[in-house]
Amino acid sequence: MRQMQVTGETCRIVVGSGKGGVGKSVVSVMLAAVAAERGRTVLLLDGEQNLANLHVLLGVGSRDSIESVLGGRVRAEELVQPVAPHLWLLPAESGSEGLYALDAVERARLHCRLVGLSQQYEVVVVDAGAGIEGVVRAATLGADRILLVTAPEPTALMDAHALVKMLSLQVPYVRIDVFVNRCAGEDEGKGAFVRLAAASEQFLNRRLHLAGILLEERQVAVAVREPRHFLARLMETRAAQCIREARLDVLDLIEPTRSRA
Ligand SMILES: Nc1ncnc2c1ncn2[C@@H]1O[C@H](COP(=O)(O)OP(=O)(O)O)[C@@H](O)[C@H]1O
Ligand SMILES: [Mg+2]
Repeated sequence: MRQMQVTGETCRIVVGSGKGGVGKSVVSVMLAAVAAERGRTVLLLDGEQNLANLHVLLGVGSRDSIESVLGGRVRAEELVQPVAPHLWLLPAESGSEGLYALDAVERARLHCRLVGLSQQYEVVVVDAGAGIEGVVRAATLGADRILLVTAPEPTALMDAHALVKMLSLQVPYVRIDVFVNRCAGEDEGKGAFVRLAAASEQFLNRRLHLAGILLEERQVAVAVREPRHFLARLMETRAAQCIREARLDVLDLIEPTRSRA
């Protein structure tokens, strides 16, 4: 395993979930912010194609849409917005349908431009689009690590399992780490992870790794309602502390596994 600080390579973390509302965006932000706190240069990329909301969460304006990068009117670099020290956001646009309609050539062109941008950062955290298709697409475009966020309830676990199945087919060598979020307690989170991991080993012959268990926490919901102070409030929560303290896990997360698909 290589140290990316030494090689100057970019580590791409794709954050995905089967089901919406499990905290994928919130976890993406916390993970990016923790890496930035550690002095990495981090780009948070909103991969939600028509339900983009990171710029709303973070209270950052989106001046132009990613679609204008395709048309060549704007360079991807110009869309990037500073969020905090070492942390930048590439917003997407809510309600944009254009990206859905891209043909293969346009998609490849956009991809090239985003790769060029990504290479200027040490860590890129992609908040992948909701649902299986968006996550698989983001992962096949290049991921060093996939971070799967799920809630502990059976419906979320089922959708998470379906996602692992697709990822196992499309990007079989990329390691998947799991955050179980919105848990009533540690035991609930552990139990959920054990069920998900057991199903994945039994039916998909695929090993999952537990990145952390995050509790349902009122302060997270409070932070979300206050875009002006969202990041500061979020990073004061127990959930953020848990991501910081999962120190080895997180450091491990941001070391590339050199298995780009
Ligand atoms: N650990 C948590 N504790 C309490 N509420 C949470 C937690 N994680 C997420 N939420 C709530 O869930 C909502 C959805 O989170 P979000 O990250 O937008 O989900 P997703 O991106 O998976 O659709 C947030 O608005 C927030 O209020
Ligand atoms: Mg989201």
